[in-house]
Amino acid sequence: RPDRPGRVAGRRGDRLPEPVPADPSQEAARRRTFAIISHPDAGKTTLTEKFLLYGGALTSEAGSVKAKGARRSATSDWMELEQKRGISITSTVLQFPYRDHVINLLDTPGHRDFSEDTYRVLAAADAAVMVLDAAKGIEPQTLKLFEVCRERDMPLLTFINKWDRPGRDPLELLDEIEAQIGVHPAPVTWPVGIAGDFRGVIDRRTGDFIRFTRTAGGATEAGEELLAPDEAAEREGEAWTAATGELELLEATGADVDEESFLAGISTPVYFGSALTNFGVRLMLDGVVDLAPAPAPRVDVKDEPRPLDAPFSGFVFKVQANMDRAHRDRLAFFRVCSGRFERGMVVTIDRTGRPFATKYAQQVFGQDRETVEEAWPGDVVGLVNATDVRIGDTLWVDQPVTFAGIPSFAPELFWVARAKDTSRFKQFRSGISQLDEEGVVQVLRDPEIGDQAPVLAAVGQMQFEVAAHRLENEFGAPVELSPTSYTVARRTDAESEPALKSMRGVDVLRRADGTRLALFESSYWLARVEGDHPELVLERLVAEGGS
Ligand code: G4P
Repeated sequence: RPDRPGRVAGRRGDRLPEPVPADPSQEAARRRTFAIISHPDAGKTTLTEKFLLYGGALTSEAGSVKAKGARRSATSDWMELEQKRGISITSTVLQFPYRDHVINLLDTPGHRDFSEDTYRVLAAADAAVMVLDAAKGIEPQTLKLFEVCRERDMPLLTFINKWDRPGRDPLELLDEIEAQIGVHPAPVTWPVGIAGDFRGVIDRRTGDFIRFTRTAGGATEAGEELLAPDEAAEREGEAWTAATGELELLEATGADVDEESFLAGISTPVYFGSALTNFGVRLMLDGVVDLAPAPAPRVDVKDEPRPLDAPFSGFVFKVQANMDRAHRDRLAFFRVCSGRFERGMVVTIDRTGRPFATKYAQQVFGQDRETVEEAWPGDVVGLVNATDVRIGDTLWVDQPVTFAGIPSFAPELFWVARAKDTSRFKQFRSGISQLDEEGVVQVLRDPEIGDQAPVLAAVGQMQFEVAAHRLENEFGAPVELSPTSYTVARRTDAESEPALKSMRGVDVLRRADGTRLALFESSYWLARVEGDHPELVLERLVAEGGS
């Protein structure tokens, strides 16, 4: 590691030094940084919009978050790729005030644009809200994302959405949560009226009934009327009796919200609602503020916590290159871990020991960018043209610190890449390494073949499209991608490699960091090999899902 520069960090460019408010921990205490995890169509986008509505960040029509098709302007070919697929590649951080708090909602791209970024974003969150469709319960993508949360013992809140439509029995949904993800559900609210005939919810903490009324198109906050139990019984009749009956059953199983087990990722507070009609949205957002943890000191590689009031530090969890071809820029997103970040600060990139001037720090809100002047623990900042910055990097001023990197996740798709035009091989090779370093795809090589035909590994198809697009447009190396028959990977070691390589339907390839990955054609085949050869090292990778 090169020598670290002295106290270059902390200089404030050409601006006059300002008195630094002494208390990052106070600012941290007001912040909640979380992500929403869900299967496509469960209602993540709708709930996000409604959170913004309740946070006052959307004034008139909800709907500026997911600009589907028409609203996007074709300003660059990158946008073109987005437009062609009608998806958002640029995942965003939405910051808005709520009560006297600052909410940072990290967007986890989903759908067809599911990629490793989706997982990485979770590394920057302190909690997650799992959105379930009341008619569907836990779905495959919910499970995969949950695995990443579990890896970090991340506190999880649950929103059972679409209660305005016919759906499943609430008790059955709770059983499913428990059975499928092994987290104990603890309802904070309980629906009155079966799915499809949603009247309101009982707040289990007070026993009161919150009756909802619709507003046109869900464009404004839902009306809420607070009724005491006797009044509610009179107004809602059978629906009330049914709900209180279910609650008695619940009480018997002790499904009460318990802060300690929630923070440990053992139980999950559950809220019922309908994002479309805004029913239960405020209660859910209150839950985030009241229950989700504020940013805490982050532990470094030596297992020592970096105090919130220590000088600035942060870690990079996502790098988005070339979003806008006209500017050819590269945004590196970092989360502030300690201290106060101030635009113009010169921070040290821990990996290289090099200084980096943060003159162009930005906050990205949907498609809009805005210069950020300062940020506090829990906040996310995008650095423009941070070419030297990589995913997993630690940034600091004054007092060095190294945070653990972000793991690479279990790939599920494996495609061979070849340069279409052999005269462009050099460009192809440097492009592939660049994409690997940026974490766009994982690059696996057979040492005997080298860069002729590396295998690109990913968790989502989208990553290949981005890789191919960038190889052609940015590096001038059109690429031919062809699928392999591999579907599952395990980490292995040098001792196990020869035996594995000699087997049918198995290959062993290497990542740039030397990690050996054994690839199998099917989980069935993997299970056979594991059963027959317990002596071989075959370790699971993060986020395999469905365990
Ligand atoms: P996602 O981001 O998780 O993929 O879900 P999204 O919010 O896009 O919602 C998927 C569909 O479900 C949308 O309908 C949306 O309007 C609907 N939806 C979301 N929340 C609720 C709810 O509480 N109740 C009901 N009934 N529907 C809900 P769409 O027709 O696919 O899209 P759009 O035309 O409304 O945009």
